[in-house]
This record gives sequence, C-alpha cells and structure tokens, in this order.
Amino acid sequence: MTTQRIDGCNSLSLPKGVFKDIFERAKPYLMVRENDVHTLIAYSLAVKLLEGAKVDERVVLAAVILHDTGYSELTAEEMSQSLMADPEGNVFRIKHEEEGARIAAKILDELGFGDQEVKHVSKIINGHDSRMTSISSEDEIVKDADKLYRFTSTGVDFMRRWAGMEPSTCLKWLKGKIEPWFFTERAKEMAAALIDEAEG
Ligand SMILES: [Fe+2]
Ligand SMILES: [Fe+2]
Repeated sequence: MTTQRIDGCNSLSLPKGVFKDIFERAKPYLMVRENDVHTLIAYSLAVKLLEGAKVDERVVLAAVILHDTGYSELTAEEMSQSLMADPEGNVFRIKHEEEGARIAAKILDELGFGDQEVKHVSKIINGHDSRMTSISSEDEIVKDADKLYRFTSTGVDFMRRWAGMEPSTCLKWLKGKIEPWFFTERAKEMAAALIDEAEG
C-alpha cells in the first residue's frame, strides 16, 4: 500500500478504535478502483480538516471511510463509465453513491451507531459526488477530504493510470477546481499547498 506525505506534514493517520472497526468491515467493499488507498488518504486529510472544527467527528470519519464502498457494486463496464469527469448526471457515479449509502447504513447499524448518525452518514454518502451543495458542516468536510485526495501525488498518479491524464494537465485542471470544489478555507489552503509541492 502506498504511503506519502500529505500537505508537507507526514504520513497517513490510520483509523483507530471504532473507526478501525468500520474500516475493517468496509475493506471488502474497497478492494476495487484502488479505493482502499483512496479511503485511507481521504481519512488522513479529514483528520487534518477536523482540527479545530466544531462538527460531529464520528459522522465525518464514518462517512469518509464508507463513502466509496458502493463502487464494489458496479460492473467493470460501469466502473469505466464512472470515470467520466462530470459527476452530475453520471448514472454510474450516482449508483456508487446509492449503493454506498446502503452498505454504510448496514455496517453502522451492525456496529451500534444511533439512528440519527446512520441517517446523517447515509445522506452525506448519497450525493457525495453528484450533489454540488452541502447539507451540513460534516458534509463539507467529507466532500473536501474526498476531493483533496485528487491533489495528492497518489491522486494525480491515479488520473494518469486510470484516465490517461498527464500529471501537468491534471495539475492545471485541479488548479481551476480549488474555488468551485472546496467548501472550507483550510481545504483550499491544503489544495494550493499540494499543487505547489507537486510543481516543485
Ligand atoms: Fe465517490
Ligand atoms: Fe472518493
């Protein structure tokens, strides 16, 4: 598994306690599209975004770990279609959100999460790509952590290998996404820092 520096400040934060339990149960659903690596990097980025934020940390971290479990339910053909850049209206992206929300609710129920927490996590997951607005502060951090992954060297390399996008083209494209994509100022700063680092 790849590890890397994130935002110039060391390595991955691995899930602990109940979040480790969630990750263990999510893992079988994350063994596609390199989602195990994506999830751990997004988790580490969420941990950083949570510093000083007044939000429900359990909801954020559970949603981050479970958000892409739904990709496990896509066929190979659907998976390649889901790589298309525009998430809105992309039926396969929407399918991974719906399936992910279902899998997340099942796992969190099994682990004894409360009804309200489960509902909130499911709502965040069901729309994490296709819904351009946020439903809560927790949703904003999940969306920002997910998108920030793309700015890491692993995310840029994923686009090279899976979508054939050259790193220089990818970085240029990502620069233009900082304002439209991110909700929190912290995420915007981290995205800009990752671009600076990649451009050396
Ligand atoms: Fe996703
Ligand atoms: Fe994701």
